Amino acid sequence: MTLFNLTHGEKAGFRGGAGFDLLDGRQGCARRNEGCWCDTRLHGAQKGKDMKTLIIYYSLTGTTRTLARRLATALDADLTELTCKRYSRGVFGYLMAAFDSLRGHLPDIGAAPSAQGYDLVLLGAPIWVGRPAPPIRAYLATRPDLPERVGVFLTSGGPGPHGTADAILRDALPNGWVAHLVATDKSVKSGESRTQESSFLRDLAG
Ligand SMILES: Cc1cc2nc3c(=O)[nH]c(=O)nc-3n(C[C@H](O)[C@H](O)[C@H](O)COP(=O)(O)O)c2cc1C
Repeated sequence: MTLFNLTHGEKAGFRGGAGFDLLDGRQGCARRNEGCWCDTRLHGAQKGKDMKTLIIYYSLTGTTRTLARRLATALDADLTELTCKRYSRGVFGYLMAAFDSLRGHLPDIGAAPSAQGYDLVLLGAPIWVGRPAPPIRAYLATRPDLPERVGVFLTSGGPGPHGTADAILRDALPNGWVAHLVATDKSVKSGESRTQESSFLRDLAG
């Protein structure tokens, strides 16, 4: 119970959505009436271990950003969005994105964010043509200084399977991941993905 007295994460400023009951019967965040769905006990477990967390993600149309912000709120994590001028909304932008993803082209993402000093890093990206979007692959190609504990979250238009995306990430992450999540864009927007998110957060804490 003491864990419910721990400070609620506010860095990402998430205020959306209605109160949320975890489907396994546990009570959610003490501030869920204000719109937060996080499981404070997990939140507390992370804090108890002084787990400093960074979320690095790329998003073109906003879905992965929404998910990244929710996870940041739950984990009190720092957030860094990768930017890539090469891709834009619209037919031409999507064609370029699809073509690059298919052929494994690594676009310019500027200076890669450092993960030094973090105990846990989450990597997020949309799936493009069955593969993680090229900006996150470009980031991984810089051989970043990732900690041993890494979690991966992907968003997609359809339910999968997403074996090719996973295989590409496994190749780029020598230690694999401690938690993995693929949520559809619809489920992220509607909030249905919160069940999956809770289980992802539990895997991260495990
Ligand atoms: C160029 C392009 C290719 C895509 N390819 C796939 C795909 O192969 N499989 C899938 O399920 N969704 C695919 N999608 C849908 C996106 O993965 C999905 O909408 C995602 O949530 C978008 O994330 P974002 O809003 O953070 O950019 C594609 C979207 C784009 C723009």
